[in-house]
Amino acid sequence: MLPFGHMNTARGKIVVIGSGIMGAGIAEVAATAGYDVVIKARSVASAEGAMARVRKSLDRRVRKEQISSDEAAEIEGRIGSTTSYEELGDVDIAIESVAEDMEIKREIFSELDRICSPEAILATNTSTLPITELAIGTSRPGRVCGIHFFNPATAMELVEVVVPDVADQSTADAAVQFVTDCGKQAVRVKDRAGFVVNALLFPYLNNAARMAAAGTASREDIDIAMKGGCNMPMGPLALLDLVGLDTSVAILNTLAEALKEPSYEPVPLLGELVEAGHLGRKTGRGFFDYEE
Ligand SMILES: NC(=O)c1ccc[n+]([C@@H]2O[C@H](COP(=O)([O-])OP(=O)(O)OC[C@H]3O[C@@H](n4cnc5c(N)ncnc54)[C@H](O)[C@@H]3O)[C@@H](O)[C@H]2O)c1
Repeated sequence: MLPFGHMNTARGKIVVIGSGIMGAGIAEVAATAGYDVVIKARSVASAEGAMARVRKSLDRRVRKEQISSDEAAEIEGRIGSTTSYEELGDVDIAIESVAEDMEIKREIFSELDRICSPEAILATNTSTLPITELAIGTSRPGRVCGIHFFNPATAMELVEVVVPDVADQSTADAAVQFVTDCGKQAVRVKDRAGFVVNALLFPYLNNAARMAAAGTASREDIDIAMKGGCNMPMGPLALLDLVGLDTSVAILNTLAEALKEPSYEPVPLLGELVEAGHLGRKTGRGFFDYEE
């Protein structure tokens, strides 16, 4: 496994669909590993937004002396963008990373299935949605899997490779190879709601939000308590803000529905913050306030 940041020669071609927090991060990781990357966005403005995020992250890595400025330019040069599916016929792996919504993902998979070569792998970065359902909606269920990065994709070591029962072994093996090429640690997981990490993490995060709503302690003190008392690198409310409260609500709803477990249902405070447009870091305000 190569450490993240190690430069490679060109490998294959990847498309990342979605220009949000995760899309930009995944594009940067794959380009650093030597893949040619295309970001497929809905508009030129959102593609430019994703490229700006990549540039900001590369600048940070140069400042920290993790890469040279020549390497940063080389990585950026490997990332292109498009607003059209028609340019995606020659990709080896498509990684869908748009909003956590089954209908939207289904539509995107159908476009990808139409345009990508039959050998291409169609992957999703979904946090909890059933990948088997996406797979059987395509003409190539054996070539569909989950490649689930964590946030921020550039810093987090783990990637869950989610393997539906209908997937070919060669698909899982190729996905693990891609993850390994990206300098990440892969674990293979069956297609069960929340996979490993989110199935274990989100009940904890939801309970932290419940505790904040009950006023057991201040928001700051809840986070301080879990950092100092359990050695967590960040507190649960700050983590919810990092994930995005809209995404967190979507994840909890899917877990509650799939596992028939009411305690997974998002606590009302999460829904109220989303209603108010306080989605966490990405809007500058969630449980806490953030400055750009
Ligand atoms: N945020 C996290 O911590 C995290 C971690 C791992 C996986 N994920 C998963 O990654 C995916 C993306 O999450 P994110 O945090 O990047 O979200 P985000 O809100 O930052 O970005 C969502 C993207 O989806 C696009 N989008 C929304 N509706 C669309 C539509 N109808 N058609 C096409 N594109 C559309 C938006 O333009 C945006 O680019 C989700 O499936 C999420 O569950 C998120």
